[in-house]
Amino acid sequence: MMFRIARSREGGSISHYDLYKVDIKKGMTVLDALFQIQDRMDPSLSFRYSCRGAVCGSCSILINKEPRLACRTQIADVRKSDMKLKHFAAISETPPGWNPDVEILVEPLPNMPILKDLVVDMTKFYNALESLKLWSDTEDGDTPRTQSPDDRKRIKRYVNCILCALCFGSCPVNAEKEEYIGPAALAKAWRFHEDSRTPDPDRYLKDASKPEGTPLCDLVMNCVKVCPKDVAPGGAIRKLKNP
Ligand code: SF4
Ligand code: FES
Repeated sequence: MMFRIARSREGGSISHYDLYKVDIKKGMTVLDALFQIQDRMDPSLSFRYSCRGAVCGSCSILINKEPRLACRTQIADVRKSDMKLKHFAAISETPPGWNPDVEILVEPLPNMPILKDLVVDMTKFYNALESLKLWSDTEDGDTPRTQSPDDRKRIKRYVNCILCALCFGSCPVNAEKEEYIGPAALAKAWRFHEDSRTPDPDRYLKDASKPEGTPLCDLVMNCVKVCPKDVAPGGAIRKLKNP
């Protein structure tokens, strides 16, 4: 199987694409293919990973124009996938020469600056999380705050977020509006609003509704389609808009 991989000489943008022939074995993931290329053909290829098990959120990339975790994407499944995403430039413009019938296209996650090859600078994504102060303020120092199983269920889906930024990279609003906080941070704001242990739940609603927050979301729902943990950030944003 041929892989067409975006490269960047100086960082900042894709400078060209390199083609590699990968020996495929049953069960191989796209991350395994990147290892094979780096080990046997091109040690200069840069990409991020850590857990290899869809837990750390570091291996987010664009595979055949769909934002996905490289470690969780089986090569055999790539061409069967159709997320039906709303398109914007980074996922609708294809590189010259790409033949989707015989090649897998691998590119960096959109909406963040490229540092090198498949590695993007995630500062914008992390700053957005920090700007909403997404933690629970404590009232009684270290006193444990317990939670009933039913209360835990209310936040279960949102707690599963692994901060992979696939939602951020799939969002047409993030593509257009530099200031947009993005789906993951807003979903977390709803998670803290719903958490029975939160002393001031309204602070998250107020912060999420600032001009760079929920008012910018067009409820496109690409974020729901790409999220590998079923967080459904778009659903949380809908609730934040109409609490
Ligand atoms: S909401 Fe989903 S897609 Fe977005 S950062 Fe969390 S796990 Fe990733
Ligand atoms: S390597 Fe950790 S999520 Fe893919």
